[in-house]
Amino acid sequence: MAHIYLDHNATTPLDEQVLAEMLPYLREHYGNASSRHEFGTRARAVVSRAREQVAALVGVAPSQVVFTSGGTEANNAFISGAAGMLKATQIAVSALEHPCVAKPAQALARRGWKVRKLAAGRDGRVDLADVALALAQPTAIVSVMLVNNETGVIQEVATIAEQARAARAWMHTDAVQALGKIKVDFNELNVHAMTLSAHKIYGPKGVGALVLDKRIELEPLIKGGGHEGGMRSGTENVAGIVGFGAACEFAQLRLAGLAPRLAALRDELERGLAELGATIFGADALRVSNTTYFALPGIDGETLVVELDKAGYAVASGAACSSTSTEPSATLLAMGVDPIQARGAVRVSLGKDNTPEHIQNFLRVLQTVVARLMHMSAMAV
Ligand SMILES: Cc1ncc(COP(=O)(O)O)c(C=O)c1O
Repeated sequence: MAHIYLDHNATTPLDEQVLAEMLPYLREHYGNASSRHEFGTRARAVVSRAREQVAALVGVAPSQVVFTSGGTEANNAFISGAAGMLKATQIAVSALEHPCVAKPAQALARRGWKVRKLAAGRDGRVDLADVALALAQPTAIVSVMLVNNETGVIQEVATIAEQARAARAWMHTDAVQALGKIKVDFNELNVHAMTLSAHKIYGPKGVGALVLDKRIELEPLIKGGGHEGGMRSGTENVAGIVGFGAACEFAQLRLAGLAPRLAALRDELERGLAELGATIFGADALRVSNTTYFALPGIDGETLVVELDKAGYAVASGAACSSTSTEPSATLLAMGVDPIQARGAVRVSLGKDNTPEHIQNFLRVLQTVVARLMHMSAMAV
């Protein structure tokens, strides 16, 4: 039985065309981009081209793109790099952030920083009044994600950036879950820094970027031979970077058509879930079109994920990146969801190859699995 993949916020399949562009740089063109001979020159040229492709997708100059080993490194590089340049005051991060923002922010407490969590509302949006309250204290760094990985809720980053700038803080956004799903324009968002990752947009794993305002300078997280303008040392992952660039170009071409197509599938899915009595988290806010995060009354999320997997459907419970943890989702708790209901959370995240048949069959299977689980829990009492 072929599994149907409905977990694209965790990762996406590598696009065949992206793989085709990468392969020569894993085989015959293996040069080090720092070398002065023909092999190196070729590698350098394709890294430059990829930098242009990534820059074009988010509307910046290529010189603003620093390649990293992924979103996790880019978030760490910004937070630790900004803290290295600024006087230790307050860092304000939303309570909805991915652990790769939340944990490096928390770590600054040991370096004399005050760490302030920005509250979220029941609808999954960061509370702008709480941002104003936080920024009444001297604040040097603000980080708010553009799209939440669990709910798909789009945050008001441009408005928060305006508040941050008025307070003279540096504004960062983790745009990993936004790229390829909505238009992401660095200048419109008015941020100083932005994190991107290739493997959420049909590119390879282990490559991402930190996009920086030309006027800010960070202390490099990874120091060494001075690659990436001294911002990120280490021999470039040439094939990965080529793949990231190609994935950005395809994402741009796909964007206008993909979002409405996935919205139609998502709406059909949510109609079926409503018939089963599901609560959809974040449904009252603006969301990306591929993500549905729901709970069914009396059904444990982990159990449902396991049962759906046995039936051939790959979905996620809680945050995908912390799937070993059994704690209820921090995002849902921050939204004020009851911990018992939060334990029921299951995420379906659609991708470019999903079809209406996938949704219809998924709903049919879900109905059967839920009926069985309800029956089993009725027998247990
Ligand atoms: C919002 C968000 N930020 C950052 C990351 C980490 O990116 P990477 O897997 O490239 O390290 C993820 C991955 O799940 C994510 O969802």
